[in-house]
Amino acid sequence: MKTITVLISGSGSNLEAIINSCDTKKIDGEVISVISNNHDAYGLTRAKKFNINTTVIDHKLYTNREDFDLELESLLDQLDSDLIILAGFMRILGEKITKKFGNKMINLHPSLLPLYPGLNTHKKVLDNKDKNHGVSIHYVSGELDGGPLIAQGIIKVKKNDNLDSLINRIHKIEHILLPEIVKQICLGNISLNGDKVFYNNIKLLDKGLIRKTYEI
Ligand code: GRF
Repeated sequence: MKTITVLISGSGSNLEAIINSCDTKKIDGEVISVISNNHDAYGLTRAKKFNINTTVIDHKLYTNREDFDLELESLLDQLDSDLIILAGFMRILGEKITKKFGNKMINLHPSLLPLYPGLNTHKKVLDNKDKNHGVSIHYVSGELDGGPLIAQGIIKVKKNDNLDSLINRIHKIEHILLPEIVKQICLGNISLNGDKVFYNNIKLLDKGLIRKTYEI
């Protein structure tokens, strides 16, 4: 069984989706630790409900990003997890930490990367009248929301979509796709070598990554 650490900053609904998939044995893994940069993150409450160890590293207590990263690095070293998931973790990590853990650190981002790295992705989709929206799961590199893509989930933007409905629909596909990808990583069916993602026993569609369209 693989050990998993999840980094969060907010609600933690994706964290809970992963914990549930571990509990029901869909994922052959265990969330051993949840780390947040934010004391008020509701995800911490969710983790405690499942008796999962939580740690807060409050970024406001550090004068620079390097010191915050050093503290996080030391904790990640101690935990020595097989997989580190950034699920709604709203801090940019520096080159040192992403180099060290990059081959076992994945990020969930609510856009069809390389479109819209950074914040406010849903608003950008609406403002630009995009036909599609979606989520990306990728290995983490030193570049913001960069790093080799593993999978994307796509939805069609509906005529009457607004910010709330889009966020809601994106969350729904995140809660399906992220546990699926974590499952495959824990099975050893997805891995990173250099900057190339390798897949085993998984159907690959276009662009060499998993792309699924959801009717949600
Ligand atoms: C998700 O939409 C994720 O893509 C983004 O932040 C959100 C986190 O949601 N990076 P939650 O905290 O898992 O509910």
